[in-house]
Amino acid sequence: MPSLDGKVAIVTGAGRGIGREHALALAAAGAKLVVNDLGATLVGEGADPTPAQEVVREIEAAGGAAVANGDDVADFAGAERLVRQALDAYGRLDILVNNAGITRDRMLVNMSEDEWDSVIAVHLKGHFAPTRHAAAYWREQSKSGAEVRGRVINTSSPSGVFGNVGQTNYGAAKAAIAGLTIIAAQELARYGVTVNCLAPSARTRMTEASFGEIPKPAEGFDPMDPANIAPGVVALCADEAQGITGQCFFVYGGAVNVLRQWDAGELLQADGRWDADELLAELGDRFPSGLAPEGMAAQMGKAGGRSMQVG
Ligand SMILES: NC(=O)c1ccc[n+]([C@@H]2O[C@H](COP(=O)([O-])OP(=O)(O)OC[C@H]3O[C@@H](n4cnc5c(N)ncnc54)[C@H](O)[C@@H]3O)[C@@H](O)[C@H]2O)c1
Repeated sequence: MPSLDGKVAIVTGAGRGIGREHALALAAAGAKLVVNDLGATLVGEGADPTPAQEVVREIEAAGGAAVANGDDVADFAGAERLVRQALDAYGRLDILVNNAGITRDRMLVNMSEDEWDSVIAVHLKGHFAPTRHAAAYWREQSKSGAEVRGRVINTSSPSGVFGNVGQTNYGAAKAAIAGLTIIAAQELARYGVTVNCLAPSARTRMTEASFGEIPKPAEGFDPMDPANIAPGVVALCADEAQGITGQCFFVYGGAVNVLRQWDAGELLQADGRWDADELLAELGDRFPSGLAPEGMAAQMGKAGGRSMQVG
């Protein structure tokens, strides 16, 4: 595993699930950790310092260094405290893994305003706020002449990049996180910071709430183990990954798929402004079967994964 000795990492939502595995893997690679977790329920209610504290104890028991943080990542001042805690505890910050998240699944037609607002806030603002404060620190470091090798690893989702029914709030936030990644990567390159995102698939309380119990195989490799996602984080945090930025990686089991960004797609070119009737006719000619999303299950299959929806 690449050495992250001397580096300092924040992982948000690291008290459980995928984030806990990221924190343990980064610590095993030599990084000092700030383990953030609000300790909320799956729908984002309540607060409990215990999950973050337990992960800190696990890291310390394995010989690593870690401190716990209970701030809400969607609170701008809380996110600033989180970044400040890393600097106060360890004197530097190298890695920010934005991972905290909640779900409040509902069909669009029944979704409440609060279900929409809370999910967008925890994911999208919860990515923006820590990244904003970490970026200000890295810009200051870069301007003072220090060599910066900053890393931001965001967490999108197959729901966002492929589109999962019942998750307009969550999927919209996750698609926006993929967009934020592309723009932040371009803005922060000048300071030596790379920004990438993962679209993971693994067994956690979140997936079990959406898809039901996901049994572990009796023996052999478990493709749904949340620890399968962490090697991608460690790899992207290595100094050798300085040239990889603005990418979104679908990760499931042993499959890591470098997703294609939105690209130029199919050009329909008129000599001047399109006439709507002619445009409609051209769309019919070019796409005789119509145009509609394939959905998450089909896309995950193509990407080397397996949707929990199709068993
Ligand atoms: N499990 C999957 O297959 C899967 C798929 C796609 C995306 N993801 C994403 O991966 C990330 C981790 O999810 P998970 O499956 O491990 O879920 P999880 O519920 O096990 O872990 C999420 C953690 O985030 C914490 N959290 C929630 N709101 C917070 C806030 N405002 N501030 C700080 N911490 C907060 C929770 O307390 C919890 O410990 C999420 O962003 C999720 O959307 C997961």
